[in-house]
Amino acid sequence: MGARALEGKTALVTGGSRGIGRAIAQRLARDGAAVAVAYARNEAAAEEVVERIRKDGGRAFALRAELGRHGDAARLWAAFDAHAGEYAPGGAVDIIVNNAGIGRSPDLSSLTEDDFDEVFAVNVRAPFFIVQQGLKRLRDGGRIINISSGAARIALPEIMAYGSTKGALDTFTLNLAKELGPRGITANSVAPGIIDTDVNAGWLRGNPQAEAQAAALSALGRIGRTEDVADIVAFLASDDARWVTGQVIDATGGSGL
Ligand SMILES: NC(=O)c1ccc[n+]([C@@H]2O[C@H](COP(=O)([O-])OP(=O)(O)OC[C@H]3O[C@@H](n4cnc5c(N)ncnc54)[C@H](OP(=O)(O)O)[C@@H]3O)[C@@H](O)[C@H]2O)c1
Repeated sequence: MGARALEGKTALVTGGSRGIGRAIAQRLARDGAAVAVAYARNEAAAEEVVERIRKDGGRAFALRAELGRHGDAARLWAAFDAHAGEYAPGGAVDIIVNNAGIGRSPDLSSLTEDDFDEVFAVNVRAPFFIVQQGLKRLRDGGRIINISSGAARIALPEIMAYGSTKGALDTFTLNLAKELGPRGITANSVAPGIIDTDVNAGWLRGNPQAEAQAAALSALGRIGRTEDVADIVAFLASDDARWVTGQVIDATGGSGL
């Protein structure tokens, strides 16, 4: 892949301010894309990512768009238009990365209807309507990349509502690939295993026993890094992946084989 595989492209990364999304935003910018770094509340983290990208010679801007409430997709695209300026002439976009997600859910016995609605609203409904309302802007030949989870493939009953959202997201991906193929747009999911991000900090970081157990889940014997996922997303976003669509790319380091 060329060093500037995404020169001239514009990308939107939801949840681009921290964790996996941050690594994706930085990697796509390094490959030449102008990147919209969408976040929910933590403006400082988003501005830090934008600043880092700019310092490294890339192009990026931040936009606040909290997902999970009706009207969220419309508000996101309105914020995109308000901030994009020269980064997205005509409001057009080439790459949509649906990364923002709620990473946990209570087990079946304690799950409430509100918990269920919340995790589905952020992890499934928001990507649906971001894509629906983004289709007019998404250029032919564009890319949709949904960040799924190994939890859609591996039974983890303690977080089954979360896993179910990612199963739904993968089915969405599959249908998008069929629907948008005639426009040369590809749609793929990337399914990480355990990655060292804030969502796992409480039980993972600084706990050698938990770290060893998490590492042992992967055939490769370590915990995933955000860059492990970002590099796959960069491939899918590039022209090298033009013949890959409707797939779930496993990014678990061979967990649950
Ligand atoms: N970490 C893992 O082990 C793992 C494994 C498999 C799949 N995944 C998936 O990977 C994706 C990213 O996970 P992560 O661990 O990188 O997350 P993270 O470290 O918790 O990062 C969260 C990012 O998403 C944004 N965000 C959170 N809730 C949001 C909402 N309601 N609306 C809009 N933005 C929101 C945050 O913005 P603020 O900073 O403003 O809050 C932040 O930019 C998720 O879809 C997750 O399910 C993660």
